[in-house]
Amino acid sequence: MKSAVIYSSKTGFTQKYAEWISQELGADLFPMDKFDRSMIDNYDTIIYGGGLYAAGINGIRFIKINFSRLRSKKLIIFASGSTPWRENAVNKVKNKNFTPEEQAHLKFFYLRGGLNMTKMGMFDRFLMKLLRASILSKGKKRELTPDEKGMLAAMDNPVDFTSKDNIKDLVAYARE
Ligand SMILES: Cc1cc2nc3c(=O)[nH]c(=O)nc-3n(C[C@H](O)[C@H](O)[C@H](O)COP(=O)(O)O)c2cc1C
Repeated sequence: MKSAVIYSSKTGFTQKYAEWISQELGADLFPMDKFDRSMIDNYDTIIYGGGLYAAGINGIRFIKINFSRLRSKKLIIFASGSTPWRENAVNKVKNKNFTPEEQAHLKFFYLRGGLNMTKMGMFDRFLMKLLRASILSKGKKRELTPDEKGMLAAMDNPVDFTSKDNIKDLVAYARE
């Protein structure tokens, strides 16, 4: 069984998970820009990971446009986001990114990443500033939720929730 782990990572959280997963499985590791569709057939298992941006999985287009080739493979997708794992939020991400047919052919995992504004590009930092302003204005009208408070704190100091423990279920499924 030959496996490839492919990832798109803007600030390093997804990359860390991709590295851990590839080490654990003895799989080949590729940043998205070093992998192309002609390489798909070299592998039995394809694992793709991307950061979550407004609930969209970074780089997922590659999987979607090559879905017919990937259909015969064991296909595992993971996303890293800053919010804690919650079933309804994870289902929302699945439904936003994949059709029911695609969902039937892949297994999705959410691995909590972190938030690091110091590594973001200008545009993402700008979006974070808008989000901060919106949370602060909500805070004038009501008590902020723990997630909102956590988000504000993470904007001032980078937070990293990655843990090697989080990859256990994905690795076990890949080995099945
Ligand atoms: C503009 C923007 C939007 C984001 N949207 C989400 C989101 O919808 N859900 C979430 O959990 N995290 C969200 N995040 C946080 C990232 O998903 C998180 O930092 C992730 O671990 C980044 O992974 P990467 O560094 O590998 O790209 C967002 C971050 C930015 C900058």
